[in-house]
Amino acid sequence: MPKQDRSTIVNSDQKNALYADAMKELASITEGETNVTALMATVSCVLAEKFDYYFWTGFYIVDPVKENELVVGPYQGTLGCLRIPFGRGVCGTVASSLKSCVVEDVHAFPGHIACDSRSNSEIVVPVLDRQGALIAVFDVDSVQTGSFDETDQKALETIMAQVFAR
Ligand code: SME
Repeated sequence: MPKQDRSTIVNSDQKNALYADAMKELASITEGETNVTALMATVSCVLAEKFDYYFWTGFYIVDPVKENELVVGPYQGTLGCLRIPFGRGVCGTVASSLKSCVVEDVHAFPGHIACDSRSNSEIVVPVLDRQGALIAVFDVDSVQTGSFDETDQKALETIMAQVFAR
């Protein structure tokens, strides 16, 4: 399927086809790899390349040293903020609740952290290890309002489970 222009909203059939491609690629590229940094860098790169509405794509990792704080991990896109306390912004809310969050308009989300003012919508999903412990959150921003829906949420949750909880 050809890459979509950033200004084009893709429908759920197109999204599902792109996510199915991405899952196949990731399963093959990451087979046998256990290094978490390598896995996060690869997931960020494959998804950012595949979806043109992905403007910022990456991980905030649970800091092993500072309690209840996320620190930026591998990402693709413009400069991201380095640290986010649990409970703050979309990423911190997901780290606290362990529930994915789809934000249609980031400007309407209380406490949203604006790393790049061009972002207008966002999705964040928790990343759990095989034992079910939170290791990171995966964050995608779009310059368009309302880019993400339950199609993205289900697919990203599936990808995170396949790559990090196997
Ligand atoms: N917008 C996020 C912060 C991270 S950046 O978008 C890269 C938030 O409120 O959690």
